[in-house]
Amino acid sequence: MLYGIISDIHSNLEGLNAVLAEMEREGVESVFCCGDIIGYGADPEGCLELILERGIRSIRGNHERGLEDLEAGTLPRMNDLALEALRYSAARLSRDQRELLISLPDRMEAEGDFLIFHGSPAHPDMYVFDEFEARYSFKSLRRDYGGPASRLCFIGHTHVCAVFLLEENEEQMAGGAVMKEGRLDLPEGMAVMANAGSCGQYRGGVPSASFCLYDSESRALSFRFVDYDVAAAQEKILKAGLPAELAERLAEGW
Ligand SMILES: [Fe+2]
Repeated sequence: MLYGIISDIHSNLEGLNAVLAEMEREGVESVFCCGDIIGYGADPEGCLELILERGIRSIRGNHERGLEDLEAGTLPRMNDLALEALRYSAARLSRDQRELLISLPDRMEAEGDFLIFHGSPAHPDMYVFDEFEARYSFKSLRRDYGGPASRLCFIGHTHVCAVFLLEENEEQMAGGAVMKEGRLDLPEGMAVMANAGSCGQYRGGVPSASFCLYDSESRALSFRFVDYDVAAAQEKILKAGLPAELAERLAEGW
């Protein structure tokens, strides 16, 4: 089975469309999303509708959990920029759409083959940027999950592609940010944690949308970057009255 894994769409319909078109060209059969469908961008409802239309299975990220806080009348723990965009998302979404997003699970097991999280498997708000954070996350995975699915997991939240590998005996650890496209044949006897980056607000210094491909038969993982219509996404953000910084950062890739 050829899987596509996406994350952090953040209401960027142009980014999501470009990624889905590329996945279609690649022959992807099943797509999973590591959360944060909404927030930051101008098209929360358009992105959610497309996710549902394509049968993409998603967990929720901190922005969907922030939506739950807003609905409950409490202040989500996020910066002012994120909060303003989240309020915009909440106003654009119908009650049914908000309820659906809030009801998404926090983690998911995909056909017994791999696991999906938003941030670290240790905590959905925790970023996994370096080897120490990855090691801590692998420990948590091993503690909470048995079975082969815990050997491969996909995460998001940092908006930067990355891959970490840990030996069975937990001695050797390797990995870090992924800066260019590439394929990795998953080595036997190693646990792997891959970050799919972001289809809507990439932060690795390139104005692209990223995703992962995982071929469960050949056990191969690929990182992909695609161009999308950044100018159109920026224009919508400005037209919606969202802060200009949210538009500017798309072009900078931060
Ligand atoms: Fe995010």
